[in-house]
Amino acid sequence: MAVQLTRVEEFALIRLNRPKALNALSFALVRDLARAFDEVAASDARALIITGAGEKAFCAGADIAELGGRTLMEQKRGAELGQATFAMLDRLPIPSLAIVNGYAFGGGLELALACTFRLVTPNAKLGTPEIKLGLLPGYGGTQRLPRIVGEARALEMVLTGKSVDAQLAVAWGLASRIVEGDAKAVLAQGMEFAREFSGYSLPVLSLAREAVRRALDTPLHEGLKIEADLSTLAFNTEDAAEGTSAFLEKRKPKFKDR
Ligand code: CAA
Repeated sequence: MAVQLTRVEEFALIRLNRPKALNALSFALVRDLARAFDEVAASDARALIITGAGEKAFCAGADIAELGGRTLMEQKRGAELGQATFAMLDRLPIPSLAIVNGYAFGGGLELALACTFRLVTPNAKLGTPEIKLGLLPGYGGTQRLPRIVGEARALEMVLTGKSVDAQLAVAWGLASRIVEGDAKAVLAQGMEFAREFSGYSLPVLSLAREAVRRALDTPLHEGLKIEADLSTLAFNTEDAAEGTSAFLEKRKPKFKDR
């Protein structure tokens, strides 16, 4: 299976599994990914972790062997398939975390950008090399990259095709932190990172993600209204009643995801 979905303790783990092709995103793999996201959405996992099989790559992007000889409409449908699949991560009821273990190029970086968080291994290289192919990013990269690193850095990456290493990725806010060691150790650090939020109320985490995400595509006065609405929804959860009572009663809250 080119997409392996497993359960690791309270987390769903997706491993892109085409290591011989550096986990390149064939269209079949993208469709498998969409099915896996649906399965994750229906599960009781508390976060989704995505990583790549092998030691070299998270994902080297769209499968270049499949890109040629397509009609204009086929090309457009391909971009829409990738965009729609990665956008499923926004609608997932749980946060997602990409562990970028090596190359994350083109569509591979775009997949990581669609996740809530990114961690990188010391050998990680993140880039949008499409320009070298006479192309530009088509799975959300031109839109998500500037939202995360700013316009100038996004333009530098997209127009030069140069990649960013792990340290620069953290300095630019492209990744939250560097994780080190073998695959098992790296996954353990990813799980430790996810546990910094995954014990909180899932519906409230989801409202909070939505509020922050909307900040990036909304004028301030509208964003503030959205925040007022979403925080009011949060106030009306059982978990908000539990969290505030627990504080006043000087005990740990027991959230029920309600
Ligand atoms: N598609 C298909 N096959 C790929 C691939 C890709 N994106 N990336 C690597 N592979 C294959 C190689 O063809 C090679 O296969 P063979 O062993 O059968 O020859 C195998 O994976 C190993 O790759 P390399 O020998 O090239 O490994 P390397 O260590 O020398 O180089 C690399 C690694 C720098 C990542 C290099 O493979 C590379 O530049 N890959 C292409 C990256 C790229 O341009 N990605 C963007 C794709 S377009 C896109 O993603 C558009 C979009 O927005 C969706």
